[in-house]
Amino acid sequence: MDIPYVRGRVASQAHVALPEGTVEEEYARNGFFGRYAHLYREHAPVAWTRIEGPLRPRLFALGEVAIGDYLASRATLLANRDCRIHIAAIAEPMPYLFRNADGDELLFVHAGAGRLETDFGGLAYEAGDYLVIPRGTLYRLVPSSATRVLVVETTGELGVPDRGMLGQHALFDPAVLRVPSPDERSQLAPGQGSCRPHEWQVVIQRQRALTSVYYPHCPLDVVGWKGTLAVWQLRVRDIRPVSSDRYHLPPSAHTTFTAPNVAICTFAPRPLENGDPAALKVPFYHSNIDFDEVLFYHAGEFFSRGGISPGMLTFHPQGIHHGPQPRAVERTGAARRTEEVAVMIDTRNPLDVCPPATAFEIASYWQSWQPKEQP
Ligand SMILES: [Fe+2]
Repeated sequence: MDIPYVRGRVASQAHVALPEGTVEEEYARNGFFGRYAHLYREHAPVAWTRIEGPLRPRLFALGEVAIGDYLASRATLLANRDCRIHIAAIAEPMPYLFRNADGDELLFVHAGAGRLETDFGGLAYEAGDYLVIPRGTLYRLVPSSATRVLVVETTGELGVPDRGMLGQHALFDPAVLRVPSPDERSQLAPGQGSCRPHEWQVVIQRQRALTSVYYPHCPLDVVGWKGTLAVWQLRVRDIRPVSSDRYHLPPSAHTTFTAPNVAICTFAPRPLENGDPAALKVPFYHSNIDFDEVLFYHAGEFFSRGGISPGMLTFHPQGIHHGPQPRAVERTGAARRTEEVAVMIDTRNPLDVCPPATAFEIASYWQSWQPKEQP
């Protein structure tokens, strides 16, 4: 363990009992794992008056995404070489099967219910479910009600992080994961969409180009499978987050999935730090030296943000600070717990904002830390 340098007025325990009249910034490498310094400032580093240039916190209201064809209407919001983040909304069963050859897909069901049909069989889904679809798997969505999904496409393989000293049953027991069974056959009928009669269509994405392959039989024809690679499902309500009564844990304590250069965390309902009135309940300020940070708000009231409602997505790029807004700090003073459900995607490499995202942008978000001008 490295013994830290200490200069000036500091809190001896991070995130607890800050020096009078200060806010805390965590300045750290490698997410919250590397070398660090806590900077105790007289002013919040987000209290800017103006920003000139392209770098700024961004907010997108994705509730406006139009319902349509799963692939044609799927809007790409943010992308880099490791991951692409999309939003999609469909109400009708997909008339074709889809196979992504570019990457694994993590679907987070924001709204709706239905059935996912895959090579491995079917799974019923509902709002608050994660569906993990490995690269190369054939699937389609069969909604029973209008379905909105956040899609995270990763170039590398999606997996679950090691829980270290928490033990292998922390956060969720692997036994709660569901995998499909091929008992119930797909109801996909021939001759739909661009098919001729008695044809079934498979759409394959390779290097982001789409190719259609047609078959004289339904390609979801697996009658049995065995192995360690499959589609799987995790329900947010099966996640049992860790918390501390006296210490604000870093977001990394809530990591649910990892892929190369990508970490995906779930903020689930949990108690706040009630055991010590001097312990921070809201996150400290930080500027993500080594990661871009995306947060999708699914349900509940978001304790670290004011003016945010379900279906919104924030993007906090490397190099410019973020942290709790004044309204959130006031609100959490007396709060005992948070009922929020949110999905965070952290990327090692910078993300580009893609053109479809700008249609959903709330441009005034960068002003939302100013007490008088919150959106
Ligand atoms: Fe953050």
